[in-house]
This record gives sequence, C-alpha cells and structure tokens, in this order.
Amino acid sequence: MAENKILGIDIGGSGIKGAIVNIATGELITERFRLSTPKPAKPKAVAKVFTEVVEHFEWKGLIGVGFPAIVKNGVALSAANIDEKWMGMNAETLFSEATGCPVSVCNDADVAGIAEMQYGVGKGKKGVVILITIGTGLGSAIFHDGILLPNSELGHLKFKGGIAEHYAADSVRKKEDLSWSDWGKRFNEYLLHLDRLFSPDLFILGGGASKKMEKYKSQIKIDCPVVPAKLLNHAGIIGAASLASLQSKRKLATVK
Ligand code: BGC
Repeated sequence: MAENKILGIDIGGSGIKGAIVNIATGELITERFRLSTPKPAKPKAVAKVFTEVVEHFEWKGLIGVGFPAIVKNGVALSAANIDEKWMGMNAETLFSEATGCPVSVCNDADVAGIAEMQYGVGKGKKGVVILITIGTGLGSAIFHDGILLPNSELGHLKFKGGIAEHYAADSVRKKEDLSWSDWGKRFNEYLLHLDRLFSPDLFILGGGASKKMEKYKSQIKIDCPVVPAKLLNHAGIIGAASLASLQSKRKLATVK
C-alpha cells in the first residue's frame, strides 16, 4: 500500500543516506543510497545533496529526516557538530522548498530510538529505556512506556569537568587513539552517571560503535541491562520515516 511507504533520510556528519521504508514492517524496500555530506555542510549545500538523494528515488511523497541537532517544529536549535548557519533555520521549510515534497525533520537520536522501540530491541519494552547513539557526538532518546521525551541531549551533560560527548564519543576514541578497553572504561563511567540520574530499565547502544560492542563489552559494569541496537545503521532511516508518518497523522487529526 502506497501510504505505508515513506522516504527516510538520515543526515550525518559524513553521509546523507536514504531509503524507502515500509513503515508497517520497518523494512527497507529499496537499497540504501548514500551521498557524502558536503564540506562545509552549510544549509544550501546540504539541501542540494538532499535533493539529489530524493531525485535518486524519483520520490514525490512524504519524507522523514533525522538531523543531528535539537529540532523543534522543524527548526534546528543547536549546532554542536554541524555548521552554525543551521542555528534557527527551519530545516523542514528548506528541504520542502528544495524538493517540492512535504518534509518532517526530527533529532537523529530520537528517530533512531523510535525505530528500535517500534521494530528493534526496544519493541514492547515498558519502563524507562534510554538509547545512546555513539558516533561523532553522543545522541540520546529517552522513552517511558514507549513514549518519547524528545530532544533530551544527554551527550551534552556536564561531565568530568567538560561535556560528556567530548569525553566518551567514538570520535574522541579515534582522536585520542584510545584502546577499545580504555574508551570502554570512559563509556562505562558515562553510563553509570546516566544510571544514577534516570534509573532506566534498559540501555540501547546505537550508532557506529554499537556494532563493535564485543570489543568493549567487558568494561561495561552496570546493573542495568545494556544491549546493542538491532537495526544498526538503518535505524536513522527507518525511524525518520516512521516518525514522519506519525506526525502527519497527528496533523490530520488536529485539522479534523
Ligand atoms: C547533538 C545531538 C545529536 C548527537 C548525535 C550531538 O552533538 O547535539 O543533537 O543527536 O550529536 O548526532
């Protein structure tokens, strides 16, 4: 059914990735298509590459987007790992005008969390579930009984005299050339801190480093269960499509 198909696009620091998603099953129904994120990643340049991804699929319908910033009503409200020109920019309007399609934009970790809660390891999980995406930064999505608390930004907690993502993101492991074991110890400290603040029932780890969990698993010593995400690098695309569908239904409901 056509209404079950939505184009999901995940905008990251290195790539802009898209696929058409069957939101009834959470499966990709096309191959994933990826283009490099332009450098510098200013809004106009990103919108151009975004349009190329949309054109690749000859897409004319609703598009869901995961974006690495605080996003409220389509407007980017932070710029930690993206060009500062995005601050205050209505990303929905920008992408919509560039493609002629309706576009729904949300935080990248929030959409990855939605995908895991709907179709992945979080499916049916009650209580407090926290998903942390580990990449250039640390992204977060908090759920209570399956309901998302958006834009939680737990990667920006003050931690160890600085900001958490400057201590425990995957980019820090690479930059400081830390062994997986040393980085794992840092990440464990971060999880302990979150555990004390939120007493979650489950932590889900997403993003690039979640695929390597075997390498640092022995350093994770907290009581709360910690599991890797199931949808791996497809979660952003799947969740973006799914959240766009939910939001468009909500909009229709308010119009009625
Ligand atoms: C941003 C978040 C984003 C995370 C992962 C952080 O630096 O502030 O909004 O979710 O990186 O991309």
